[in-house]
Amino acid sequence: MTSNASDSTSLADTPLSTTPFPREDARGIARAFLPGHVLGNRYDYYYTLTKLRTDPLYPGVLQALRPTTAPVLDLGCGLGLLAHALRADGQSLPFTGVDIDAAKIRRGRAVAARAGLADVRLDVLDLGVGLPDHQGSVTILDVLQYLSPERQRELLGNVIAMLVPGARLVIRSGLADDTPRSRTTRITDRLANLAGWMQERAKSYPTADGLRSQLEGAGLQTTLRPLYGDTPFNNWLITGIRA
Ligand SMILES: C[S@@+](CC[C@H](N)C(=O)[O-])C[C@H]1O[C@@H](n2cnc3c(N)ncnc32)[C@H](O)[C@@H]1O
Repeated sequence: MTSNASDSTSLADTPLSTTPFPREDARGIARAFLPGHVLGNRYDYYYTLTKLRTDPLYPGVLQALRPTTAPVLDLGCGLGLLAHALRADGQSLPFTGVDIDAAKIRRGRAVAARAGLADVRLDVLDLGVGLPDHQGSVTILDVLQYLSPERQRELLGNVIAMLVPGARLVIRSGLADDTPRSRTTRITDRLANLAGWMQERAKSYPTADGLRSQLEGAGLQTTLRPLYGDTPFNNWLITGIRA
């Protein structure tokens, strides 16, 4: 297992990248999701392009993963967009993504193969039921809220045990607090579910204190920083490093 913990002491000191990709970079990544045929369905292309252009998620996550070469397991990977962003960023760490949505995994696999992404694997898995074997880093991006509080805690305990020295646990999540941002996050997730954009329904948002105490209690060097950029949501980036 290779990993580099050289900058683990400076995590909180490095300003977090909180702006979305510039237009050309976003287009460069999203292009992989264009249909093979000129009359094909462009939904995934426009979805990924909009996500990359408006949400600072991936620049923040890429920054958090840059110091390590440990394999990454992406829980709730959707179409596997993180794998494309990693390769565009020059990060070649082995990537495994899992998601409950079999249709997304099927489309994501086809796109990753067409784009020639090396060392990328996408599988169908319900995080409410289990986890694959893994040693390395773990990313959980906008997914925790779909699990019950008990399952969130259990899952985090299991993924913390997967971290090798220098590897990172990178979580982005809406946090439960009494801010208008938190309310907007909840309402938008509900609407996304009702409209059918998201098959799963959000169950519970973690709190900053709960995440911090679990990660620090497990001995991880932990930072929590806002990662909502210009969006109205209460999305934070939580990074834990196994020293
Ligand atoms: C908001 S999307 C985030 C996708 C991706 N992580 C990203 O940031 O672009 C949430 C993802 O979590 C997945 N998901 C929800 N509940 C899940 C579960 N129980 N097991 C696995 N994946 C789940 C959904 O299918 C969806 O792809």
